Amino acid sequence: MSTLITNGKVVSTTGVIAQDVLIDGETITALGAPGYFSEEGHQVIDATGKYVIPGGIDVHTHMEMPFGGTVASDTFETGTRAAAWGGVTTIVDMAVQNTGGNVQDQLAAWHDKARGKCAIDYGFHQIIGGVDEQSLKDMQYLVQNEGVTSFKLFMAYPGVLYSDDGQILRAMQTAAECGAMIMMHAENGIAIDVLIQQAVARGDTDPKFHSYTRPSPLEAEATHRAIVLSHVAGNVPLYIVHMSAGDALNEVAAARHHGRNVFAETCPQYLWLTLEETLGKPGFEGAKWVCSTPVRSKDHDPDYIGQMGHGHQADLWKGLRMNELAVVSTDHCPFCFKDQKEMGLGNFAKIPNGIGGVEHRMELIYQGVVAGELSLERWVETCSTTPARMFGMYPKKGVIAPGSDADVVVWDPNTTTTIGIHGKHHMNMDHSAWEGWVIDGKVDTVLSRGTVLIRNDQYLGTTGHGQFVRRGLSQYLV
Ligand code: URP
Ligand code: ZN
Ligand code: ZN
Repeated sequence: MSTLITNGKVVSTTGVIAQDVLIDGETITALGAPGYFSEEGHQVIDATGKYVIPGGIDVHTHMEMPFGGTVASDTFETGTRAAAWGGVTTIVDMAVQNTGGNVQDQLAAWHDKARGKCAIDYGFHQIIGGVDEQSLKDMQYLVQNEGVTSFKLFMAYPGVLYSDDGQILRAMQTAAECGAMIMMHAENGIAIDVLIQQAVARGDTDPKFHSYTRPSPLEAEATHRAIVLSHVAGNVPLYIVHMSAGDALNEVAAARHHGRNVFAETCPQYLWLTLEETLGKPGFEGAKWVCSTPVRSKDHDPDYIGQMGHGHQADLWKGLRMNELAVVSTDHCPFCFKDQKEMGLGNFAKIPNGIGGVEHRMELIYQGVVAGELSLERWVETCSTTPARMFGMYPKKGVIAPGSDADVVVWDPNTTTTIGIHGKHHMNMDHSAWEGWVIDGKVDTVLSRGTVLIRNDQYLGTTGHGQFVRRGLSQYLV
């Protein structure tokens, strides 16, 4: 089957050009001026008045992850289908090794969950929750044999996934030896646990205390420490996940200023949501927005020691423009309100941490384009091209170019939609963190390796279409 996308404007990291896109089977074969290719014999998708962009790549998801005493509510089937609805054609999910667990066995378990279930292509990072002799050996094995080239460590969640500085250093040294990327959950979990115990003892148990007990200096301190350790470990590439705070961002910016391979991602919840409007809602409703790192105060964060006069959000948008933040992911970790978030009724510390958003990232970051915070090119760069390069998938993924996988989204900038459980929402959640948000622009058509998944507001994909992506080393290093 060949497909011709006509009359659209192709957006890349370097510009917006009126071009037709020719697809043969699973691959883009040519780009040409509008009308250059004959329409005869092709399935034609008319993209008049629309943008044609590389499929979104979300490099931070948690499908079916056991966490906080429950399991993330999207399966690979439901979560990747929702992702397709949102213009995402590849996810990189986090396989989990718990303390004492066998890395290779647990990666195999993640393959078992995803195989034959995904609507879109998928890769894996490996969480190392227990750094020891065997897991260090396994890291090398995964890089050399499994197409898994990035490892997430945790400076938070003591007793669950936490690694101490010595363990972090050892894992970083191993990653440096094999060229892998270290991804870091950078929060000082030991100090946070003290603040949590003190808050609960005082009776401060509402959801908003989740954010108050994780103040931004403890994100900045951990980010700084991770950067120092990565330097000592031989300049291993370091990628800070889910960055929420301006003071943490300053640490990344300083390291990058010194030419270091230090990168960071943020997520839509930190760019758009504030503590006051979410976790601060009366009663228990704020539990919907409990995630770590936390959603922060907009203007009046007493802990913020970043740039005076700016809130975290302004700094994060600036960071995206300046490439201090290279990627936007979602950290999609959905839990239902009923029975899951409700586990923390009466004690915020028992609310499972996570927000579902895999379906909404492309449209939420496009609102940054509408608001003048980002260019169209930077939207594509942070949501598709850089994720592909950062995690060894380029140019198969992340670009509309001859030879690349035909992962393509046609984006209609002329339509308005409203997010929500009563409108557009396909994630396996009984609520939305984005309920009621009015969105300019909309996914029109989604192709994954040449197969149409979304068209005319209909899902045309199939369970099991998605293939595992064996990733190479990062192509983004200085
Ligand atoms: O709240 C979050 N982020 N849940 C998922 C686990 C993690 O730390 O990424
Ligand atoms: Zn994390
Ligand atoms: Zn995460």
